[in-house]
Amino acid sequence: MNDTRLPEHVAANRDYWDSTAEDWVSAGERSWRQSEPTWGIWALPESELRMLPDDMSGMRTIELGCGTGYVSGWMMRRGAEAVGIDNSAKQLETADRLMRSHAMPFELIHGNAETVPYADVSFDFAISEYGAAIWADPHLWIPEAHRLLKPGGELVFLGTHPLAIITTPPSGAPSERTLHTNYFTLHRQDWREVEVDPGGVEFNLPMAGWLKLFRDTGFEVLDYLELKAPDDASETRFSSPADWSKRWPSEQVWKLKKI
Ligand SMILES: C[S@@+](CC[C@H](N)C(=O)[O-])C[C@H]1O[C@@H](n2cnc3c(N)ncnc32)[C@H](O)[C@@H]1O
Repeated sequence: MNDTRLPEHVAANRDYWDSTAEDWVSAGERSWRQSEPTWGIWALPESELRMLPDDMSGMRTIELGCGTGYVSGWMMRRGAEAVGIDNSAKQLETADRLMRSHAMPFELIHGNAETVPYADVSFDFAISEYGAAIWADPHLWIPEAHRLLKPGGELVFLGTHPLAIITTPPSGAPSERTLHTNYFTLHRQDWREVEVDPGGVEFNLPMAGWLKLFRDTGFEVLDYLELKAPDDASETRFSSPADWSKRWPSEQVWKLKKI
């Protein structure tokens, strides 16, 4: 049942994630057991992506769209005081169970990463791996992350590369070598009615759009990564065939600093 107080895409995505949370339990359990992080659909190692500071002692962190919470678990292992927010109560049930079974309790908030119930300048580090990074409207969640961070604080996020979106056919089938969607107007992708693997409402921007948003919000870009599938990958992961993802970037990582 949609909550009418939520923006339409947030209510739709809440329904979607509450109804699919069960499918993510075993992946969450596996990731919680890992002492070293791996990232994204190709499980690329932390040694390559450098998403987290080595020592996070005393850092207050927020994971925006924490899902089953393993990224916060990894940050706690490095010394962080973590908070996670997620739009799905069902995902948070898994996160709550797993953080307790790993004896790493942290604060979980059921809510929308576009409007986080925390005071300004509360956090040293914010992160999203396929959470707010793709499911929330960047024009709302990026300024919200900026508000939450202390000056000099960092926001790191990983999600789908815009090229992977514009090469997805209207049916929702995996990325092809054909451009399907208008690049310049890229913003909201509604996958609810597609034939192949219907999903929720996602967001992305053209490269110039991301850069303008960061500049207007007050973020400096520290680094930008375009991720490729490992040489030995052969399968299709989510919407990205391995052969495609060895030639074109299926995922992107932004590393930003609050000015
Ligand atoms: C693929 S999971 C990513 C989280 C984590 N990396 C994982 O794999 O468990 C996506 C999560 O984003 C959450 N999400 C979607 N929209 C959100 C929003 N507006 N605010 C907070 N969380 C949101 C979903 O509920 C879901 O748990």
